[in-house]
Amino acid sequence: MERIKSGVPGFDGLVDGGLPKGFIVLVSGAPGTGKTIFGLHFLLEGIRNGERCVYITYSQSPKDIRDQGAVLGWDLSTLEFVELRPEEFEESLAGKRYDRIVLDSLSSVAVMTRDSLGRFISKVKEIGCTALLISELPKETQWLSRDTISEFLCDGVIVLKSVEAAGDVKNMLKVEKMRSTKIDHKSFIYNLTGKGFELKTYKVS
Ligand SMILES: Nc1ncnc2c1ncn2[C@@H]1O[C@H](COP(=O)(O)OP(=O)(O)OP(=O)(O)O)[C@@H](O)[C@H]1O
Ligand SMILES: [Mg+2]
Repeated sequence: MERIKSGVPGFDGLVDGGLPKGFIVLVSGAPGTGKTIFGLHFLLEGIRNGERCVYITYSQSPKDIRDQGAVLGWDLSTLEFVELRPEEFEESLAGKRYDRIVLDSLSSVAVMTRDSLGRFISKVKEIGCTALLISELPKETQWLSRDTISEFLCDGVIVLKSVEAAGDVKNMLKVEKMRSTKIDHKSFIYNLTGKGFELKTYKVS
């Protein structure tokens, strides 16, 4: 199985060296857990390799995201942005080819049934890209996505959490699922720094 580098410092070791090419991976997390930054690392890696990359956003304007990248020292001027709802995206991007897609976020779809979500994921697969679908999670929830369905339909699920313990806040990443990949069912601490996402190599239970 061909794997691609995620571009997220410290992450690839958790998934046998990289994300399986062509996979649709859900990235779920509460507000401010670094979902957008994770997605930008992924696309910047693609840009470095000369791949076709697109950031599909509905929740934040492209300008906001470029500004957010600039604070982290990233030049996103060559990154393509598309401002669309996922349901519009199906039609408008039909026939286009991309290597990497980030959709921020899946939660902007008003109502998604299992069927419509399944059709949507098949469409993204047809593009032949590796995709990260971002899902916004409430702080306290047992579910892995906002819609409670996409975690079953996607090939992989990465959950970002912010946990308070003894007055300290720790960010924790867990790969809940990655088809065809040996994963360690542990949480890993990460920091959000002036350089973006930084995963620590030590595990938490
Ligand atoms: N320069 C920086 N130094 C330290 N932390 C930073 C820096 N820039 C951003 N952060 C952290 O990253 C967080 C925002 O990351 P990001 O926008 O990726 O989160 P998100 O999960 O996409 O949030 P949302 O749900 O609002 O879309 C901020 O809450 C902040 O803690
Ligand atoms: Mg975001």
